[in-house]
Amino acid sequence: MATSPELIRLLVDSFAERDDERFRTVALDIAAAAAKAGDQKLASSVRAMVDRSRRSALPSVGPKAVPISRPAGELAPLLTISYPKTRFVDMVLPNQSKAILDRILEENRSANTLRAHGFEPRRRVLLAGPPGCGKTMTARAIAGETGLPLLVVQFHALITKYMGETGAKLHAIFESMSSTRGVYLFDEFDVVGTSRSASNDVGEARRVVNSFLQLLEHDDSESIVIAATNMAGKLDVALFRRFDDIVQFGKPRAADVRRLVENRLAAFAPLRLRWTDISTAAKGLSHAEVVKACEDAAKAVVLGHKSVVATAQIVSALMARKRPSVRANRSRTT
Ligand SMILES: Nc1ncnc2c1ncn2[C@@H]1O[C@H](COP(=O)(O)OP(=O)(O)O)[C@@H](O)[C@H]1O
Ligand SMILES: [Mg+2]
Repeated sequence: MATSPELIRLLVDSFAERDDERFRTVALDIAAAAAKAGDQKLASSVRAMVDRSRRSALPSVGPKAVPISRPAGELAPLLTISYPKTRFVDMVLPNQSKAILDRILEENRSANTLRAHGFEPRRRVLLAGPPGCGKTMTARAIAGETGLPLLVVQFHALITKYMGETGAKLHAIFESMSSTRGVYLFDEFDVVGTSRSASNDVGEARRVVNSFLQLLEHDDSESIVIAATNMAGKLDVALFRRFDDIVQFGKPRAADVRRLVENRLAAFAPLRLRWTDISTAAKGLSHAEVVKACEDAAKAVVLGHKSVVATAQIVSALMARKRPSVRANRSRTT
């Protein structure tokens, strides 16, 4: 197949510029030229390669993308790092939230192209909603989908442990965002995210909110910054303005319960389940609790040497999750 010299020049140029997205676009042009010239085999293999590289893509980044094994020095006790494999297909999310998250991924995958045109990808995200509905999992999925490391800051620990020097620690974390590109999750943000005028506010927390907001506003790193909170209603409005996107999480609806159960129990091939009974029993439970109930039901089946889970087992596992003794004992899901 004759590839035009222009395409080859563009390909090499985008490689030299480290513009992965343009590189892929030109590669697809080459595939199209091959198809046109009758070489379907080459065309489809190039397309498959582009597809694979897109899926496993580290977002195209410059020297800042050095993968790190673990935070060093003063950051070590503040940040935990991991490389999650979580993907959004593993999650049950409302379409509206999914659309917001897809746009964040898309803009970060094409960050260099956007920046070349003077645009910044959206990368400051607030996740709000009740416990167990997927906020931490969403942060893991954003890391999993972009191939970036996930760096988790336990906000609560930051404040209580470093009373008085939290501002300096926060600075260090924001500096790390520039030197190490990653997905930074400020989890359990509630402690500082609640209204700055609330009467129970301690002075330290108020100072931290202010410096967090300033740092967030002036941050020009290429990292994705995520804050997660259980208390959307009480959040300071000033916070909302600092984020590019706010994703609201809620308890699963009947259709969501069905998908959660189907996903979790796929291996047990429940052929026919009474979905109305299951969704009635699941009312008020979080995604995490529904998933755990499925696991309880599946364990009972395994130990009873059966091969499929029946509606009754799932319903009773769901009901058990609602009993006060289970609620008191259950481990925290956040
Ligand atoms: N939207 C969801 N889709 C699928 N599984 C979920 C979802 N939300 C929660 N889970 C399950 O519950 C667990 C805990 O959820 P998590 O993300 O920690 O909740 P949160 O951070 O909102 O408290 C997850 O690891 C997953 O197994
Ligand atoms: Mg959480």
